[in-house]
Amino acid sequence: MSLTGPSKSKPSVAIIGGGLCGLGVGWRLAAAGCAVDLFERDKAGKSASWAAAGMLAANVEAESGEEILLALDLESQRQWPAFATELSAHTGIDLGYRDEGTIVVAIDRDDAEALRFTYDYQKTQGLDIEWMTGGQARRLEPHLSPGVTAAVHSTLDHQVDNRQLVVALEKACRGAGAVIHEDTPVTAVDIAGRKVKGVETATGTHRADVVLMAAGAWSYDIDGLPPMARPPVRPLKGQMLGLRMDPRAPIVDHVVWGPGIYIVPRRSGHLILGATVEDKGFDPDMTAGGVFRLLEAAWEALPQIEELPLDEMWVGFRPTSRDDAPILGPTSVEGLVMATGHHRNGILLAPITIDGVSDFILNGILDPALTPFSINRFYDETKSETGIRA
Ligand code: GLY
Repeated sequence: MSLTGPSKSKPSVAIIGGGLCGLGVGWRLAAAGCAVDLFERDKAGKSASWAAAGMLAANVEAESGEEILLALDLESQRQWPAFATELSAHTGIDLGYRDEGTIVVAIDRDDAEALRFTYDYQKTQGLDIEWMTGGQARRLEPHLSPGVTAAVHSTLDHQVDNRQLVVALEKACRGAGAVIHEDTPVTAVDIAGRKVKGVETATGTHRADVVLMAAGAWSYDIDGLPPMARPPVRPLKGQMLGLRMDPRAPIVDHVVWGPGIYIVPRRSGHLILGATVEDKGFDPDMTAGGVFRLLEAAWEALPQIEELPLDEMWVGFRPTSRDDAPILGPTSVEGLVMATGHHRNGILLAPITIDGVSDFILNGILDPALTPFSINRFYDETKSETGIRA
């Protein structure tokens, strides 16, 4: 896309939410010549996009009953390397993309049976993953526990540093000419005659031809939307920990999943342990039980974490829709577009969301890969939610 100034032929766009979807679409639209105003209730890129772990794990996270979502996940995963290269070259920011792959480990016989069941399902979907013995897994990651009995290896499930990603997207978005209004919550979407007119904030009304709802876990609480255009999204709390490895002697290079845990090593030495899954609204507290379970589960897979300094702990709020799949594209309100509800896969789905939604706003054509994810699936009885949960 070329960098041009605002043009009268392009729609003006108000974006609600400064996470990676809002910043990414803001970048694409401003670069294409739209006047873009992005409204963020807090600071840009500091909510779920910051809290995430950055796993691009379409294969090992594939679950039975989510085949339509799996197709979207795999397509976005395929787009990731080119997207990262483009954004990195454009901003000069290293996104910390790592392609060592992912290992899922089983610790005892029950884990191994559960892992085998999931692996057998994933193979029926044609996924490129490999079954390993514990010994084979330890040859890839020598610090895995001697108690690891079996593993699944995915060479295609990579990772990206999501914090670098949102810093880069913010830079690209501002650089293309979008105006980012931080500490400015949108209180309502203005709609008249089933057409958007703009958004309301504490500082007044902002007129726009298009409004993009990209407010993540906060999307449901914005007033002014008719029931059929109100995204059924709720916060799903996750507690996470950051340990510090010596970057010259990391104890692990792959992303490692174990029962109740994922372990994500950054090149900087930051080692992320995540995450609890708690339906507790916007409860911001770390708890002793949450921290204990993360450390215990991580220690069972990778005992050497015991020696590492604990650097950071934080809580994030996944934007989870009623069927755990994202809500994308147009709505029954003209000019109101959705990019929300990404649940556990916001980072993985960034390229396809950003480019698919931007293309729709610019050209009015929706990528067929996005059509099953319309908000209408929750409200149109002829398109039940089984459209996603096949
Ligand atoms: N995608 C990781 C998580 O939701 O915890």
